[in-house]
Amino acid sequence: MKLAVYSHRGYEAPFLEKAAQGTGIELLPIPVALSPLSAPLARGCLGVSVFVGDDASEASLRVLAEGGTRALVLRCAGFNHVDIAAAARLGITVARVPAYSPHSVAEHAVGLMLALNRKLHRAFNRVREQDFSLDGLMGFDMHGKTVGIVGAGQIGEVACRILLGFGCRVIAHDPRPSEGCLALGVPFVGMDELLGDSDIVSLHCPLTPATRHLIDRDALAAMRKGVMIVNTSRGAVIDTRALIDALKQGHVGSVGLDVYEEEGDLFFRDLSETVIQDDVFVRLMTFPNVLITAHQAFLTREALTAIAATTVGNAAAFLRGAVPEENLVDARLIAPPAAGR
Ligand code: NAI
Repeated sequence: MKLAVYSHRGYEAPFLEKAAQGTGIELLPIPVALSPLSAPLARGCLGVSVFVGDDASEASLRVLAEGGTRALVLRCAGFNHVDIAAAARLGITVARVPAYSPHSVAEHAVGLMLALNRKLHRAFNRVREQDFSLDGLMGFDMHGKTVGIVGAGQIGEVACRILLGFGCRVIAHDPRPSEGCLALGVPFVGMDELLGDSDIVSLHCPLTPATRHLIDRDALAAMRKGVMIVNTSRGAVIDTRALIDALKQGHVGSVGLDVYEEEGDLFFRDLSETVIQDDVFVRLMTFPNVLITAHQAFLTREALTAIAATTVGNAAAFLRGAVPEENLVDARLIAPPAAGR
């Protein structure tokens, strides 16, 4: 099978090549993102692989289907960028990597918390300028603080474990409370209770119609003054304009973001010579208490090894007509709206 790999990046090449060895899967690296314009590049490829910044909308999928594509294998867990219904109509099987390394993302989320709290990003720059003063660098003990985990799935559960190790009080909100978190002694609470009780809110839910702008003006107002918000899930779970207002008012104390609503136009490329046109993002970058990474939470050797193995495995399994049920992406994966918020 020829597998067109859109948004192919140098860092993942050795992992994909190793995974494909001896499988009969022939990789066709395509360094640009999938879009209706770039979709003809995959003509003749039975399989297509995409990442988070690719546009797998109906328009792109229609071109792929016309070119002979029947399998879309995602190199990620999130599937909000895929029109699942259109894929089904067009006869394209969609499979994802439901689990690769929940540790990679949970550890990055906690890394953002620690860096923001102890202002490591500012301290690094200060020391390089030989400014060894400490004013403005005060943090708080994580021990004893309440962390609210929104979405206690695989990544959320690992985040719970790490934070419990710090001596935090951890609470969670999820329409499907997990046995794993309950076994850890993490109580599941309503969204309003989580927002009102948490010193830190960490987002680990998928982006679905029910979670788009889950953190809106009302949710932000319901949070404690000085709250820290960390988002390593998907950008549109937060209403960024409302977040900026809450930061300007000083209601939100600090924000760590690995994802951004409009990241498709920005992330995964070097724009250092470019004038960024997205004024909302540029405003976000001006806050001293906002720390942004460009969707790198997954970027560990262990995660990339697992992503490559499952992606190539999904393509090979498609040929055998045996894609594992848990890897299939279909309408069942979209969670029902959460009760309340
Ligand atoms: P998962 O499917 O194991 O867990 C997601 C949890 O969110 C489930 O328990 C689900 O019931 C819950 N949920 C659904 N709707 C909710 C709502 N309205 N409120 C609260 N919880 C809700 O997924 P996993 O592997 O833990 O990943 C979570 C998300 O993290 C992915 O969907 C993806 O968007 C994001 N992600 C980000 C990465 C990065 O590099 N920044 C890498 C991998 C995943």
